[in-house]
Amino acid sequence: MMFSMVLAAVGHQEAESRFQRLLTCLSHPPSYTCVRASTHLAPLEEIRQKLGEELKKQQMCTSSEKEVSVQILPHPLIPDVLLLPVDGPRPVEQLSSEVVVGTQCGSAVLRGANVFVPGILASPKFMKAGDVVSVFSDLEGRCTRGATSFQGMRVFVGNGVAQIDRSGIFCTDVAAKGVGVRMVEPLYQSPSFDGVLPNLAFLQNLPSVVVGHVLGPLPGERILDMCAAPGGKTCHIAALMRDQGEVVALEKIKNKIDRIRQNAKMLQLNSVKVYCFNSTKAVSSDSAQEHEGPPFPAESFDRVLLDAPCSGLGQRPSMSCTWSLKELCSYQPLQRKLFHAAVQLLKKGGVLVYSTCTVTLAENEEQVAWALETFPCLTLQPQEPHIGSEGMLGAGLSPEQLRLLQRFSPELTWDQTGAAAPLPYRADRDTIGFFIAKFLKK
Ligand SMILES: C[S@@+](CC[C@H](N)C(=O)[O-])C[C@H]1O[C@@H](n2cnc3c(N)ncnc32)[C@H](O)[C@@H]1O
Repeated sequence: MMFSMVLAAVGHQEAESRFQRLLTCLSHPPSYTCVRASTHLAPLEEIRQKLGEELKKQQMCTSSEKEVSVQILPHPLIPDVLLLPVDGPRPVEQLSSEVVVGTQCGSAVLRGANVFVPGILASPKFMKAGDVVSVFSDLEGRCTRGATSFQGMRVFVGNGVAQIDRSGIFCTDVAAKGVGVRMVEPLYQSPSFDGVLPNLAFLQNLPSVVVGHVLGPLPGERILDMCAAPGGKTCHIAALMRDQGEVVALEKIKNKIDRIRQNAKMLQLNSVKVYCFNSTKAVSSDSAQEHEGPPFPAESFDRVLLDAPCSGLGQRPSMSCTWSLKELCSYQPLQRKLFHAAVQLLKKGGVLVYSTCTVTLAENEEQVAWALETFPCLTLQPQEPHIGSEGMLGAGLSPEQLRLLQRFSPELTWDQTGAAAPLPYRADRDTIGFFIAKFLKK
């Protein structure tokens, strides 16, 4: 029914053409890399200069050219963002020696990463360290680990130099780690940030950085991040608070917890408290609670971030889609359960931000419409900054309400944001698909 409402609102032809553009841009990485600078530790300009020097050193080692230049621009509106252009797709010739990697690894390579050993699924039978190989991403998860070749659905992501023999990858008792293929001719050229100024430069998609600013945490406040791993937004919140106050990070999956702690430690943030906990159960009935951690009494937090588990359909680059309809539909009820806990845990007068990295109406505008109806204490608030587009039609929200929402929809301007457009202009449009809503609890 919602689909027919969208069609009625925008027209069949426009909906079809927008969908095709969406598919195209989702299969490409954004045309720049976004770095969140640790401005709680050093001024932006100092970080920009240091980063420039580090990346120049890196490029001098890998490039045959004598003069290398690295372009790093500050974002015109967001004070802790640096932008670096990505060059691609470039003409790269495919070789006969082939390494196949998993989709996640392939996507990371398209965004500037090297291939790490755990991502390698197949390699030539006699591959030795130093061999030059072509790297392919397995689109459907069909390649068997340890194979010597693979002819299934795959996509070329560039050429690199093997850093390890085949036997070191597949024939050892101890799982090997570290770089397995160093990319020398990637399809999309952008700096590898592996080990580059780890405490000052944090790779984060632009809309995710916007979320932290929209939440607007202040020093001394108590903030809850309900779905926190790997902790990018948790750490941003703590940095915006100059590490004064408390950021409680909850995450349901145990083996993701360490990553949040490592990130907080690396960024020198002591105000982050991490707990492995199911946030749907984070409200305690005991209002005189003594212990520090979850569950918490109602109205415990000044601000709550619900960066919800979602279908992730806005992620870029995404070269294949193996979702089932059942899986896609499973998120809306879970998000609503989390929303119930979020509203209860928020103090009166507090701010709740709901965000997803997906494009569906069901997980975004429909959730906002449901929340406004279910919780009369909530009102939608303007967002600062607001660099995306407004909310999408089809969920029954008024034009004023849609204007208060922020949607990052790369397909809207896909044809106009070519590499020729100035970088800051491209940066706000050529993003991953993302959604942000900000509420005030009366
Ligand atoms: C979109 S990701 C969060 C990304 C994170 N906010 C960041 O910026 O780095 C959603 C996370 O929620 C976790 N999650 C899912 N259900 C949860 C629940 N009931 N309670 C707590 N965490 C949950 C998932 O394991 C996943 O790590």
